[in-house]
Amino acid sequence: MTIDIHSLVFSKLSDDTDVSSFACSDSKDLEDFLRCDAKIRQQEKISTTYIVHSGTDLVGFFSLSMGCITSDSVKKMSLEIEDPPNKYPALLLARMATKDGLRSQGIGREMLKHVFAMAFRLTGQIGCRFVKVDAKRDPQTIRFYENYGGFIKITQNSDTVQMVVDLNKIGDEENSVNDR
Ligand SMILES: CC(C)(COP(=O)(O)OP(=O)(O)OC[C@H]1O[C@@H](n2cnc3c(N)ncnc32)[C@H](O)[C@@H]1OP(=O)(O)O)[C@@H](O)C(=O)NCCC(=O)NCCS
Repeated sequence: MTIDIHSLVFSKLSDDTDVSSFACSDSKDLEDFLRCDAKIRQQEKISTTYIVHSGTDLVGFFSLSMGCITSDSVKKMSLEIEDPPNKYPALLLARMATKDGLRSQGIGREMLKHVFAMAFRLTGQIGCRFVKVDAKRDPQTIRFYENYGGFIKITQNSDTVQMVVDLNKIGDEENSVNDR
C-alpha cells in the first residue's frame, strides 16, 4: 500500500478508536501497548497516545509523557546555562511505531514533526528544554532518530539508547524535522 503523507490525519486516541487492526510484528510490545494498554494509560494520565490515519487505516501511533534528564547525562553538550539545574525538563517520546508494511514512506518523519510541534507549543506554557527518547538498540532505529529528528545519543544500557534533542538548538518547529 502506498501512502500519501499529505493526507495523513492525526488525532488523539479516544475510547472509540478501533485499534484492533494495528500490527507491528517486529516490536510486539508496541503492538500490544496500542491494542491493550494505551487507553488505560491515557485514563491514568501516564501517557497520551496520538494516532495517525490514512483514510480508514490506522497507520501509526506515538505516545508522550512528561520526562526529565539529569544534567550529568548532558554534561558534554554545551548548553550555556548559568547555574544549571540537577535535572532538565523533557518531553518523553515514550513509544512510536508505523504499521507493518508501511515503513520507509515518511510516516515516522510526519510523526516526529507532530512531536516537535507539540514540544514547541509546550515550551510556551511550561519549561521543556529537551525531547527525549529511549530508542531500541537497533542501528536502523537509532539512524532514524539521528537523521530525521536530530537526536543525539547520551547514555545507553543493554536494551535502549537514551537520545535527546535540545529544543534551543533547533530553531523553530517548521525546521525541526529533516525531510531528506
Ligand atoms: C522507527 C519507525 C517508527 C520509523 O517509521 P517509518 O514510517 O518507517 O519512518 P520514515 O519512513 O519516516 O523513515 C524511514 C527510516 O526509518 C528507519 N527505520 C528504522 N526502523 C525501520 C524499520 N523497521 N523498517 C524500515 N525503516 C526503518 C530507516 O532508516 C528509514 O530510512 P530510509 O527509508 O532512508 O532507509 C518504524 O520503522 C517502526 O515502527 N519501527 C518498529 C518500531 C520501533 O522500532 N519503534 C521505535 C521504538 S524506539
